[in-house]
Amino acid sequence: MDKIIIEGGKPLNGNVTVSGAKNAALPVLAACLLTGGWHRLENIPKLRDVRTILRIMAQLGVVFREEEGAVMVNSDDLNAYEAPYDLVKTMRASILLLGPLLARYGRAKISLPGGCAIGARPVDMHLKALVAMGADMYLEEGYVNARADCLKGAEIFFDIQTVTGTENIMMAAALAKGKTVLKNAAKEPEIQDLARMLRGMGADIEGDGTDTIVIRGVDRLAPTAHTILPDRIEAGTFMIAGAMTRGDVTVQGCRPEHLEALMEKLQTAGARVQVEGDRVRVRGPDAIESVDVTTLPFPGFPTDLQAQFMAFMCTGKGSSVIRETIFENRFIHVSELLRMGADIEISGNQAVVKGRPHLLPAPVMATDLRASASLVLAGLVAEGGMTEVHRIYHLDRGYEAMEEKFRGLGASIRRERA
Ligand code: EPZ
Repeated sequence: MDKIIIEGGKPLNGNVTVSGAKNAALPVLAACLLTGGWHRLENIPKLRDVRTILRIMAQLGVVFREEEGAVMVNSDDLNAYEAPYDLVKTMRASILLLGPLLARYGRAKISLPGGCAIGARPVDMHLKALVAMGADMYLEEGYVNARADCLKGAEIFFDIQTVTGTENIMMAAALAKGKTVLKNAAKEPEIQDLARMLRGMGADIEGDGTDTIVIRGVDRLAPTAHTILPDRIEAGTFMIAGAMTRGDVTVQGCRPEHLEALMEKLQTAGARVQVEGDRVRVRGPDAIESVDVTTLPFPGFPTDLQAQFMAFMCTGKGSSVIRETIFENRFIHVSELLRMGADIEISGNQAVVKGRPHLLPAPVMATDLRASASLVLAGLVAEGGMTEVHRIYHLDRGYEAMEEKFRGLGASIRRERA
């Protein structure tokens, strides 16, 4: 298994361009199942999770080709409806195929994603909503078996704001008979990006980006061209890196309006943050102020930046209380940060981070996508030796060419292929 080796202590300086958003690319690719014909998708990131969903979709009969950097997708010959466990177990977002398959094909057999390192991550709200829309569903041998001759519009209230749940039902409702109203819908930018693509296909959707989304089903959709929005979590990861290494980093090609919660926290921690169009310049403070953070659904502080921000707070001047309210077990990176000399105490869903003058290099192990990013960031500031981050296949799920991008900012970082 590959590992990443970092020699810490160097301030990062320069420009870095973010890739397309993983969490927009996955639902947008799934939406291509809703109609035949050629879709043209631009800015699809080269990530492990994207390769996984392409592999699953290929098994369903979907055809892909590259054209001048765009990914062309055609599901004319959609001829199967099963997403197998061996692929789904590596990426729970495969559940996003359920809604489109039911809407287009009337059948779906999707392996239940199962838990992952950060929590049980059930999909009960996805299933409950599809049953309310007229789907028959039963669980067998770890698979969801679903059938729907004709999905009907329904009024759906999500107990918890669910990102992929909102996306799944938006896609199913686009071809349902009648009107679907999603209440307590998630408001993440990736949902708005999917709605933009579905409207491009002829869907009748309004309210995306608010907590009430109304979808009026249409008889058929048409293929479209769509450009994936920039990855706000990748952008935020590089902004935090610039601040914590006391460097001067400009993240370009991003959407600053998607990063307001993070920018506010970076400024409170003493960083200078300047927004110019699609560029955000972050200059690190000499002394890092410790800042409290609570993760919340968008537009609150994103749970997907919690681990990275915790690494930042490890070298703060005081104490930082970090509360994780979205997932029940998203502190796995703490044990690895402790091995690098951090002082962190967990009680329930909160971690108290007492800042230390610096972190120490060490061999550490990635356990999930964003935890691996936080360990790379910690390695960038660990002085006096090499930090080795093992099992970085987790990192490759959600970051395109991370080590190249950090090297371009002056980091001493390389990948060692096992
Ligand atoms: C999406 O996951 C993202 N993944 C996650 O990013 C992100 O952390 C999460 O939203 C929260 O923002 C993709 O978009 C592919 P949820 P998702 O449904 O949709 C509970 C990353 O690092 N819940 O919004 O699976 C759930 O357990 C990944 O890029 C139910 O109880 O998250 C969680 O506690 C990690 N029942 C909360 O809701 C359900 O049916 C929010 O989960 C669905 C969710």
